[in-house]
Amino acid sequence: MIVTVAITGASGAIYAQRFLNHLAAEPKVARIQLVVSGAGLRVLHEELPEAQLTASNLVERLVGEGREKFEILANNDVGASIASGSFPVDAMVAIPCSMGTLGSIAHGVSRDLIQRAADVMLKERRKLILVIRDTPFSLIHLENMRLLTLAGATVFPAIPSFYHRPGSIEEAVDQFLYRVMAHLGLRPSKAYEWRGSKGK
Ligand SMILES: Cc1cc2nc3c(=O)[nH]c(=O)nc-3n(C[C@H](O)[C@H](O)[C@H](O)COP(=O)(O)O)c2cc1C
Repeated sequence: MIVTVAITGASGAIYAQRFLNHLAAEPKVARIQLVVSGAGLRVLHEELPEAQLTASNLVERLVGEGREKFEILANNDVGASIASGSFPVDAMVAIPCSMGTLGSIAHGVSRDLIQRAADVMLKERRKLILVIRDTPFSLIHLENMRLLTLAGATVFPAIPSFYHRPGSIEEAVDQFLYRVMAHLGLRPSKAYEWRGSKGK
């Protein structure tokens, strides 16, 4: 699989960091095209200050194994491979996805590579997953989600579950990410499966 990952300026650097590592560890994933918006980099700085991230050292600082699978693309390079439907991307995940990027994709604005690549996924009827984060939602946010759902995207709010009783933030985040990965046809062995309530 070739997967595009976009990191935009919503809170949730931990989702992005752990997702990149889970994806890189998947044998079915051959290549990861990574794009980070300017605001995305700023939020990464705020939430992972110790990593001292720059646009070029992201993979080296955030990813353990599987770094060779990554290609980093500049968000202002609207002529990059993923800007064209002729380039065979299997799926795109924006994680975390800001309300700004959500709105731009919903309205076909395509002003940067992330927005254009997402627009391409929709026009080519390919898988587009938007791991949105904000709270509460305005009517504009909700309408944009409705529009994108109708256009074929999957709106995947960054809302972890607790019925599997996570013992740490990392575990809660990982089980959420495994749900995202299931939508890519990937089934990590540690993914929790609900088998019904015991003792009822
Ligand atoms: C620390 C920080 C946290 C933010 N968190 C969110 C958020 O959770 N959701 C959101 O939609 N925007 C959030 N924003 C605002 C976006 O970064 C801003 O709207 C930006 O223009 C989005 O640009 P992008 O979509 O190109 O990344 C945050 C900004 C900062 C600096």
